[in-house]
Amino acid sequence: MASFYAASAAAAATSTATTRLLPSAANRLTLSSSISLKSLRFSPVISHLYVRKKTTLGRISSERLSYATVTSPISAASIPEQLKSARENIKELLKTTYCHPILVRLGWHDAGTYNKNIEEWPKRGGANGSLRFEIELKHAANAGLVNALKLLQPIKEKYSGVTYADLFQLASATAVEEAGGPKIPMKYGRVDVSEPEQCPEEGRLPDAGPPSPATHLREVFYRMGLNDKEIVVLSGAHTLGRSRPERSGWGKPETKYTKEGPGAPGGQSWTVQWLKFDNSYFKDIKERRDADLLVLPTDAVLFEDPSFKEYAEKYAADQDAFFKDYAEAHAKLSNLGAKFEPPEGFSLDDSSP
Ligand code: HEM
Repeated sequence: MASFYAASAAAAATSTATTRLLPSAANRLTLSSSISLKSLRFSPVISHLYVRKKTTLGRISSERLSYATVTSPISAASIPEQLKSARENIKELLKTTYCHPILVRLGWHDAGTYNKNIEEWPKRGGANGSLRFEIELKHAANAGLVNALKLLQPIKEKYSGVTYADLFQLASATAVEEAGGPKIPMKYGRVDVSEPEQCPEEGRLPDAGPPSPATHLREVFYRMGLNDKEIVVLSGAHTLGRSRPERSGWGKPETKYTKEGPGAPGGQSWTVQWLKFDNSYFKDIKERRDADLLVLPTDAVLFEDPSFKEYAEKYAADQDAFFKDYAEAHAKLSNLGAKFEPPEGFSLDDSSP
C-alpha cells in the first residue's frame, strides 16, 4: 500500500495545479438523454469547475499502518458514465475479495452522522465523503473501516469524476444487490466535503451496548430523521458480515461459520450465510438456537420493544416485505445530509428512483 500511496501522490502531484472545465452534471445528464448535437450548441455545457486539491487520507495506526498525505482529485459532483464504470469495478472487487459487508458498513457510517436539526451543509453531517479523512476514520465506531477505504481507493483514483460521497454509497448499494438483496432506488450527484475540519464530531453513530438500547436507538435514528420501522429494517443489514472483537470489541474471535473466511477469517456473524442478503437476521434473532451467531443488545431489543417487535416479526415471516422496506430505507439513508449536483440528483438506471 505504501507504494500505492506514493504512486498516486506522484501521479496526482503532476496535475495538482491543473484546473479543468467540464460540463455540469445537469448538462451531462442532458447529454446522456440524447439531445441532438444541434441543440447542444445552444446549451451552456461548460459551467462546472473541477479542481485538484490536496487531501489527507488515513490508515489506522493500531493496524500498524501509518497515515500518508496524498493528493487526490476532488470533483464537485460525479459524472454518470464514470459512476457506471466504477460500479462494474466494484462488482469485480466484490467477486475477488468478498468485501460486501464492510462496504455496506462504510456507506452507512458516512451517512449516519446526519443531524436533521442542523440545516447547514456540511455541519449537518451525512453522506458527504467526510469518512475518508483520518480524523473521522479514527472515531471508535469506525474501527476497521480504513480497510474499506483502501479497497475503494484504486477505483477512486481511476475515476476523478466520481466523488467519495457517491462512491461510498454506490459501493454499499452495489454490495447489497450483488449479495442477493433488493434493487435499491439510488440517486447520485453527492458533493464531497473538502477538508478534515468539515468532519462531524465523534459520537453521532449508535453504540451496540448502551444502558437502554431502545431509547438509544431512537435518540440516534430520530436525530437522522428516521423512524421505528427504518431502525428495524436497516438493522437487517446485519444479515451480512461479522463483528470482530479487535475492532468494535463485540463478537467472538471466530466461530464455525467464520474460521475459514471467505475473506479474512474470524469474527462472529449474525447469520450462517453472512455473504447472502436475506431475512435470516430476523429469523435467527427470533429463534436464538445457535450460540455461534451474534446478537448485540441493539439487535435483541428489536424483538423486545413493542413497536420495534411489530416490524421485526413481520420481516422474520416475510422476506418480500423486508426487501421492499429495506430498499426504500437504504436509499433514504444514503441521501441523508447529502448536497446534490444537480440538486435533484440523477439515477444511473433507466427507471428513475
Ligand atoms: C442499529 C444500530 C447499529 C449498531 C449498534 C451497529 C453495530 C455494529 C457493530 C458493533 C458491528 C461490528 C463491527 C466490527 O467489529 O467490525 C457492525 C457491523 C456491521 N454493521 Fe452495524 N450497527 C448498527 C446498524 C447498522 C446499519 C443501519 C447498517 C446498514 C444499513 C449496518 C451494517 C453493518 C454491516 C454490514 C456490518 C458488518 C461489517 C463487516 O463485516 O465488516 N449496521 N455493526
